[in-house]
Amino acid sequence: MKNLIDILDLSTEEIEELIQKANDIIAHPEAYREKCRYKKMATLFFEPSTRTRLSFEAAMYELGGQVLGFSEAQSSSVAKGESVSDTIRVVSGYADIIVMRHPKEGAPMVATNVSYVPVVNAGDGGHNHPTQTLTDLLTIAREKGRFDNLTIGFCGDLKFGRTVHSLISAMARYPGVKFVLVSPQELKLPSYIKKEVLKKQGIPYVQTTDLESVMADLDILYMTRVQRERFFNEEDYLRLKDMYILTPDKLANAKEDLSILHPLPRVNEIATSIDDDPRACYFKQAVYGKYIRMALILKLLEVD
Ligand code: NCD
Repeated sequence: MKNLIDILDLSTEEIEELIQKANDIIAHPEAYREKCRYKKMATLFFEPSTRTRLSFEAAMYELGGQVLGFSEAQSSSVAKGESVSDTIRVVSGYADIIVMRHPKEGAPMVATNVSYVPVVNAGDGGHNHPTQTLTDLLTIAREKGRFDNLTIGFCGDLKFGRTVHSLISAMARYPGVKFVLVSPQELKLPSYIKKEVLKKQGIPYVQTTDLESVMADLDILYMTRVQRERFFNEEDYLRLKDMYILTPDKLANAKEDLSILHPLPRVNEIATSIDDDPRACYFKQAVYGKYIRMALILKLLEVD
């Protein structure tokens, strides 16, 4: 694998390998401190980010490497009208690996055509976000010890939530997985994913607008933010944004070993009073994001 654009670029064996590597890094961080000495990573973020960019940068620093890049398009030559292709072609002469986030779906794929170095998709519009999925998979592996036979609820903005799209593609490969899709009518999972992933592979799923009615079935609850920046009008956003707010009373019927995940940032959809519940995994999940990205950098740079 040269680039990571879609989570399906990785085989199940490669995912397993990355998870093992991340677990080894967590157990023996000192063994990795010099692995990327003299290597450079460019982080090109044409859209806002906190966790993804900073966890990639922290990952590279912890491997002994260095980081260059920009965190907003306005501070780069994009503001002068430069194309993504030209930016990437030039930066790939300065860095050993490029991590990019872009509001346009497919932009990282275009970048792979002109880059001389590996390109990682750190989120493209409302499409995909494969490294968040690796983060989610490491969290599930550590919390649940397995990927098969899990009932996974996704709640919130399933239409624009790119982390949801990538995690569904990844989990659909494992036997005995069921999906429960909880969203307002307007923010349902796109039909292309239902058709190409769920129906094609015969994966059981239910769709509902009512979170509490399905809570007792769930092994994992993946909460998401309503993606304001992808709405065409503010009124719709305001009407839908607080439709699901997870509060302690809503967990009354939940399993004792439920794992609550969220890619973050959280807006209102999980009450802060849940944060101390042992089932809340989202802050741990953000930490795991750094370790799995360390494992990914090592793999793409072919560092042993
Ligand atoms: C997510 C994203 O950017 O899609 N954030 C992240 O990478 N952790 C989720 C979101 O922005 O809601």
